[in-house]
Amino acid sequence: MSLTPLFSTLTYKSDKPFEIGDDLFKEIKSLPNTKNLTNKISEDLNVLNQYESLKKYCEKHLNYYCKDILKINNEIFITSSWFNYTDKNESHHTHNHPNSIISGVIYFNNNSKICFVRKDEPFCLNLDYFEYNTLNSSTHNMVLNKGELIFFPSKLNHYVPVNDINETRISLSFNTFVKGKINENNIISRLEI
Ligand SMILES: [Fe+2]
Repeated sequence: MSLTPLFSTLTYKSDKPFEIGDDLFKEIKSLPNTKNLTNKISEDLNVLNQYESLKKYCEKHLNYYCKDILKINNEIFITSSWFNYTDKNESHHTHNHPNSIISGVIYFNNNSKICFVRKDEPFCLNLDYFEYNTLNSSTHNMVLNKGELIFFPSKLNHYVPVNDINETRISLSFNTFVKGKINENNIISRLEI
């Protein structure tokens, strides 16, 4: 027997977390923020410009995800970055990240959750499954710990469930885009940006 999960959606989690000390956590928690739909977001939408070592960590993993795993030959760079603040009983609505190719998130608390939502069901029927896995489920929950970084294609819908603990959950999200010559060998679709 041979099984091939065709055209899968690939997510990535860093193996060695970024070290987040108490001082950094306190500083980030106190940054100016504003209301988002169901939680809060930093006023600064390019926060990685202020945190050089965090930025380097994200770029190192982004490069590995794009080049070594996905084999992308184009230059992918970080376009924007912001902190999310989710207080007790708050959540983060279902969304994706338009105008971005790959998105990343770093978590600042242990036991943080994100839930990914499948766009197309595997069959045109709501079948009953006796066990769920990534081949048959409509949603997929991930639990991340302090300093862990994930990547996912920006078009993938996701949300953060209600925060049920007495602690503000903080995460850093960022978007990316491509620059340079794209699809150069195709005279119709080639692009330089
Ligand atoms: Fe998001």
